[in-house]
Amino acid sequence: MISIKNPDQLAKMRSAGHLLHDVLCRLREAIQPGVTTKALDAYAEEMIRAHGAIPSFLNYHGYPASICASIEDEVVHGIPSDHVTVENGALLSIDCGLILDGWQADSAFTAAVGNVSEEKRQLVAVTEESFWKGAFMAQNGNRLGDIGHAVQSHAEAHGYGVIRDLTGHGIGRNMHEDPSIPNYGEAGRGVRIRPGMTLAIEPMIALGRWQVHQLADGWTIVTNDHSPCAHYEHTVAVVNAGPPEILTLPGHVWKEAEA
Ligand code: MF3
Ligand code: CO
Repeated sequence: MISIKNPDQLAKMRSAGHLLHDVLCRLREAIQPGVTTKALDAYAEEMIRAHGAIPSFLNYHGYPASICASIEDEVVHGIPSDHVTVENGALLSIDCGLILDGWQADSAFTAAVGNVSEEKRQLVAVTEESFWKGAFMAQNGNRLGDIGHAVQSHAEAHGYGVIRDLTGHGIGRNMHEDPSIPNYGEAGRGVRIRPGMTLAIEPMIALGRWQVHQLADGWTIVTNDHSPCAHYEHTVAVVNAGPPEILTLPGHVWKEAEA
């Protein structure tokens, strides 16, 4: 069942989203060669708790940390570790979620650490563009397939692989609610998008092919061909008319180029 949020509930999700944006901005500043992913995780948890919020990932189905930190061919769900140091030239995807006053926010980005190849920089840029093309379609009267189709078309036009095994999702009181939001699909197909829906849209794109597998740690997802990956996610709220409000990006205004 897809839950529709009323204006009071949306205000709470906005507060959660704005706090998460602040956390992710400060994490981005903390990313530099030599830092461990465990240190980034500790910093995130400290910031979240300092604002009276709860790290939503921690203990979620037994997940042991407050962020996911996924490097290079790791697509998502990389577990922070004292033994994993961020290295110059790598792609590092940070995914984080929190609960404020009972309402969830979820957002992710991929950072290019130090001197990163043009090929990988392009992957990060196109993944973000794919998000914007998909999110733009989250409008009253459109269908879920319009989102996936927009993401897929843009990513595949660059020859990239769109990860199929993982999807975006509805979000609200719970991190994962209906509907599931694939990053591929057919325009005009699927559930009708309505105002008050709150969605976590999150393209995961590989430089190579889209097939993935899980590591023996029970969490980390890596590409089968070990090509590097990028991830970009925001929590958005569908409005009465036009493109959605990006709850995890305060002050965002839609520009022509993002359509
Ligand atoms: N942020 C992820 C998502 O977008 C969920 C992380 S899984 C967890 O769905 F177990 F780490 F929380
Ligand atoms: Co998510």
